[in-house]
Amino acid sequence: VNTETIAGRDAIAAAVQQLLAGNVVAVPTETVYGLAADALNPHAVLKIFETKERPKLNPLIVHLPSTTWLERVAVVPQERLVRQLVERFWPGPLTLVLPRQAMVPDVVTAGLDTVAIRMSAHPLLTDILHAFGQPVAAPSANRSGRISPTTAAHVQEELGSRIPLIVDGGATEHGIESTIVAVRNSRIELLRRGPVTAEQLRDFAEVIESQTTTIEAPGQLPSHYAPNAQLLLVDELQSFTPAAGQRVGGLSFAAVDAPQFAELRTLSSRGDAREAAANLFRCLRELDSAAVDLIVAEQLPEEGLGAAINDRLRRAAAR
Ligand code: TXA
Ligand code: MG
Repeated sequence: VNTETIAGRDAIAAAVQQLLAGNVVAVPTETVYGLAADALNPHAVLKIFETKERPKLNPLIVHLPSTTWLERVAVVPQERLVRQLVERFWPGPLTLVLPRQAMVPDVVTAGLDTVAIRMSAHPLLTDILHAFGQPVAAPSANRSGRISPTTAAHVQEELGSRIPLIVDGGATEHGIESTIVAVRNSRIELLRRGPVTAEQLRDFAEVIESQTTTIEAPGQLPSHYAPNAQLLLVDELQSFTPAAGQRVGGLSFAAVDAPQFAELRTLSSRGDAREAAANLFRCLRELDSAAVDLIVAEQLPEEGLGAAINDRLRRAAAR
């Protein structure tokens, strides 16, 4: 199909039209771009899996138009913790895994008895969801296993000619996918690190770092975000020496003098983790398309957003 890109508010009506027709549409969120379809229409949701070539055992996140939908799609435990998290972090980059209600189709949850839900803060997606009036299911808008898109042009690279419409909302704010937590027995289980940090969550309850890599969150596979070039993680970029004739791309956290790299990208010249996260996937894409033999990336200090960025780098390095 011919993929149309429409920027800004002009895209809202066209996006709603696609959703109503049971089609997929790429939309911006505050984290990364998503590939959305009517969450309550199994045929529409199946198109997401086909378009992304995503294994059907990998469940999707449901994006709600408003908090009033929370109880319609999920069973909210009596405890106050879920309410507190919703009040503090919604709309925003926090996804909650809760027991599902029967109205959520099996294909969305991959047959699990839980559903992942979030409410995005992106103004364009918010308006699309209000006009559509129903939740959408939306994974990141990349081909399965690849780097998540943070611009409309990235979506075009990944899914161009496979989808009818890309809603262009500019570069996304956070640049990495939402934090995913499950709330069980008054504790917070961290299933995926993201913009809402473990430190922030600790203000609300005990946080358990989930070591799950398979059963519960199949998408949390060790190998993910795979660039074409091999990726090597180091503690300090400057001390890396390429082999003779080797073309190496460098990914540094902060400003660095490192002439040994054929291509160098800096995540944040002032060493700011928020800025680094916002630039991460774009820089990885740019290095990957610069025809290098190897990408060498520097780890960030393992705290706050740095831990979330390191998590993506480790998955990108895994083969
Ligand atoms: O920021 C985000 O979360 C983006 C934007 C588009 O909203 N979405 C996103 O979706 O990253 P996706 O599908 O790329 O990643 C969602 C992850 C997958 O690893 C999936 O396995 C996990 O959430 N997941 C979905 N439902 C789950 C459930 N019921 N229990 C545990 N993990 C679940
Ligand atoms: Mg994804």
